[in-house]
Amino acid sequence: MAGLLPEGNDMPADGSLPRGVNVGADSRTMSAYIHVPFCRVRCGYCDFNTYTASELRGTSQSTYIDELSREIELSGSVLTRAGVPKRPLTSVFFGGGTPTILPATDLVRALELVRNEHGLEPCAEITTEANPDTITPEYVEILAEAGFTRLSLGMQSAVPSVLATLDRTHNPASVSAAVQAAHEVGLEVSIDLIYGTPGETLDQWRQSLEAAISLNTGHISAYALIVEDGTALERRIRRCELPVPDDDLEADMYELADELLKAAGFQWYEVSNWSKSLEQRSVHNLTYWQGNDWWGYGPGAHSHIGGTRFWNLKHPA
Ligand SMILES: C[S@@+](CC[C@H](N)C(=O)[O-])C[C@H]1O[C@@H](n2cnc3c(N)ncnc32)[C@H](O)[C@@H]1O
Ligand code: SF4
Repeated sequence: MAGLLPEGNDMPADGSLPRGVNVGADSRTMSAYIHVPFCRVRCGYCDFNTYTASELRGTSQSTYIDELSREIELSGSVLTRAGVPKRPLTSVFFGGGTPTILPATDLVRALELVRNEHGLEPCAEITTEANPDTITPEYVEILAEAGFTRLSLGMQSAVPSVLATLDRTHNPASVSAAVQAAHEVGLEVSIDLIYGTPGETLDQWRQSLEAAISLNTGHISAYALIVEDGTALERRIRRCELPVPDDDLEADMYELADELLKAAGFQWYEVSNWSKSLEQRSVHNLTYWQGNDWWGYGPGAHSHIGGTRFWNLKHPA
């Protein structure tokens, strides 16, 4: 999650990349991350680079893809000037924020733009993150027809009191409806869970794990809650309205996740991620760990080309 950025050099005014980023490019894959910095409501624990309608100034959701298209064009010319060969994308990941707050046709348009710029591998993994409230059968049908392969759904918990502490607005029932709709159009689904919410018991965490397992998806991510500075959650803990999460309890929760997920046929493959098969691992997540190349589009997004990291200004305006 967020922290101090490492020291770096200012980006050259013409956006050029350092010499040598093209060396060995043919042995690395290329991916795209597309950040969508919008949410309907801000959850009290979240410090991601995202804005509700009332927080947004200087830009709007309706013009977002037009603005993104200019960065996509720019990325092509920057890579060409640096001598980096064109490689079709192995994965595309729409993250947020809540990408699915935008009309499905906007996500399809953004996918077309990166496809036109870079090309796409025939079996590329195309994922969007989604809040369960935003998913309808019509929405996922448009995504699947356009080539999306995967939905990563923010369930967080199955327990109403835990969801309330996290300020989640979705109804737990909307999670299974969203999973079913996505499965019906052939999308792989991953579920995000959070453990260690103040006041959450081991038994409540067990209930959430069991509920997530019963959804029959091929991938589950379980994240330890990070109490981020400056969030509403951090203020409530500081004012003693909520207890400080207990490290030992969180360790027990992690072990319980591994135990129940393994018993349900999932394999652990990365700190917070489990999948039912090798094919259901997140290709996009692994590309980060393997040090491949990716361009991060949108405000605050980070890129990594030939060992050089660079990132965009944070505010959408
Ligand atoms: C961009 S959100 C997923 C999509 C959508 N915005 C949602 O929340 O449903 C990415 C995931 O990051 C995790 N996350 C966000 N803030 C966190 C925090 N402070 N500690 C641990 N996990 C966090 C949540 O599990 C969330 O589902
Ligand atoms: S957790 Fe998801 S829905 Fe909640 S504020 Fe963060 S990005 Fe938005």
